[in-house]
Amino acid sequence: MTRTEARTIADLIEDRFGLATEAGRGMAAEGPLARILSRRTHRRYDSRPVPEDLLEVLFACAFSASAKSDLQQASVVVIRDAEKRRRIADLIPSMPWIGNAPVFMIWLGDSRRIRRICDMRGKPFANDHLDAFLNAAVDCGLAMQTFILAAEATGLGCCPISVVRNHVDQIGEILELPDWVFPVAGLCLGWPAREGFISMRLPPSVTVHTDRYDDSCLAEEIGGYDRRRDARYSIPAEQQRMTDKYGVADFYGWSEDKARQVSVTEREKLGPYVRRKRFCLD
Ligand SMILES: Cc1cc2nc3c(=O)[nH]c(=O)nc-3n(C[C@H](O)[C@H](O)[C@H](O)COP(=O)(O)O)c2cc1C
Repeated sequence: MTRTEARTIADLIEDRFGLATEAGRGMAAEGPLARILSRRTHRRYDSRPVPEDLLEVLFACAFSASAKSDLQQASVVVIRDAEKRRRIADLIPSMPWIGNAPVFMIWLGDSRRIRRICDMRGKPFANDHLDAFLNAAVDCGLAMQTFILAAEATGLGCCPISVVRNHVDQIGEILELPDWVFPVAGLCLGWPAREGFISMRLPPSVTVHTDRYDDSCLAEEIGGYDRRRDARYSIPAEQQRMTDKYGVADFYGWSEDKARQVSVTEREKLGPYVRRKRFCLD
């Protein structure tokens, strides 16, 4: 038996979190759980196309995701028109994978269908409040992630693109989105050109609570996480964000990077867009 064959699910959990565990020690590192634990986003693809029938299979998997009340409020637009693709890619030049990926699509939250069905059935849509928006967003996220996991199971790689929401007016116009339909994320798809890397996650002690929400140890937990991530991969000084405003940090961990990232306002047009698309967010 080679070393690789002897790896267990516990080893994969350790890779993901950078923490020792005995959970899954008796389970071989193979099958769907192993694939989920070692999954990663891919932003570079080789030139091989994605076969049409495989794409159809992946959409069938995506729309097998669970859906709130069976209302099925996710939709997707595959961008096949080269000019539309170029216009979208040009909006986001910092992410060339949008234009380069063999396949690019945009996932949508879709509260329009059920409202049209109410019209067709002569019934009122009596849930015109925030939950209608949330349900469509959640359904869309579940369908997109199911698509991603299905794609990764075949060896394909994906990269979601939430930055399409920074340009929601232009995306809405290009895709001709009607009322009650909004973009959740783009998705690049193709055969990975590189192996990629596992992105270390926050420890379960931060994300998994028992019986009540408790973040009393957050500061220490984040400190430990920053150090574990940095020990595996140190963000180079030249990749620190906004050094003109915040300077070059001696220790630049995940939390400093994320705090700097969200210290800049973006997507302030999304709320007005969604309201213009007639969602009531009260
Ligand atoms: C909803 C969503 C939106 C994302 N948007 C972008 C994006 O606009 N550009 C990008 O390069 N990656 C994007 N990503 C990829 C994340 O950066 C990536 O999932 C995260 O860094 C964790 O890495 P991993 O998926 O390899 O574990 C997005 C991921 C999700 C789930």
